[in-house]
Amino acid sequence: MAPVRRSCAFLLLSVGLLACDRPPSATLAEWTPRDHEQKEQTAKQQGKGKSGQGTGDALVEATWRNQCMTCHGPIGKGDGPTGPMVKAADLTDPAWQAKVTDEQLAQSIRKGKGKMPQFDLSEPVVKGLIARIRTARGQ
Ligand code: HEC
Repeated sequence: MAPVRRSCAFLLLSVGLLACDRPPSATLAEWTPRDHEQKEQTAKQQGKGKSGQGTGDALVEATWRNQCMTCHGPIGKGDGPTGPMVKAADLTDPAWQAKVTDEQLAQSIRKGKGKMPQFDLSEPVVKGLIARIRTARGQ
């Protein structure tokens, strides 16, 4: 904040009152954990409206994109930027999918497996991620 305010003051002095018609605090609202909660809430509600299952599709998508895609790639083939480095599993492989239960997948997501870290995610999000993986079967 301090450098912004300083440059504002500088602008005020040199350009006059043309720039900075609003104080920096009004334009640069500080992020608080509450904002995050509200966003999650909205995402959940949107997901509910679409699927009717309350899994929060938007939240699941955001979670996949932010936390899984770097290794597993867009649909789960293990072709994300860091996928080859950690040898991320091909989650779309039908033979593998037939062998594993949803409980095993949930366990791996929650506790981690091999080079995959553990993820502390809510129950509906874990379920949604598993549903997403199941949908990508054989793709
Ligand atoms: C740092 C890279 C990395 C990230 C990030 C990552 N994974 Fe993985 N994932 C792996 C690797 C590597 C394996 C293979 C683990 C093994 O079998 O040793 C794996 C395996 C899995 C498996 C199969 C587990 C099993 O029981 O065989 C699932 C399901 C999975 N990941 C889901 C996810 C989800 C969902 C996320 C995001 C919340 C995620 N992964 C994020 C690297 C990652």
